Amino acid sequence: MYNYKPTMVDETPGSKHYCTCGNSNNKPYCDGSHKGSGKSSKVFEITEIKKVFICDCGKTGNSPFCDGTHAKKEKSGCCGGGHCS
Ligand code: FES
Repeated sequence: MYNYKPTMVDETPGSKHYCTCGNSNNKPYCDGSHKGSGKSSKVFEITEIKKVFICDCGKTGNSPFCDGTHAKKEKSGCCGGGHCS
């Protein structure tokens, strides 16, 4: 299930598999729960220790990172459940 706020992570260097389906029980990381959904994880290479904000509304234009789209949906009355367009 999607949420309408991003997940903040103090990330460390390495290859990261971020969930894009909203069903992982280990968000923001993929746990394989996407199987059968037609979606897959977003693989991203983190090169340095840094704070990142991972999208959890499913609407970002900069996957896997938050681009602020969830805030626009809040103002429009969308609940952020991933079923509003
Ligand atoms: S569990 Fe969501 S993309 Fe893998």
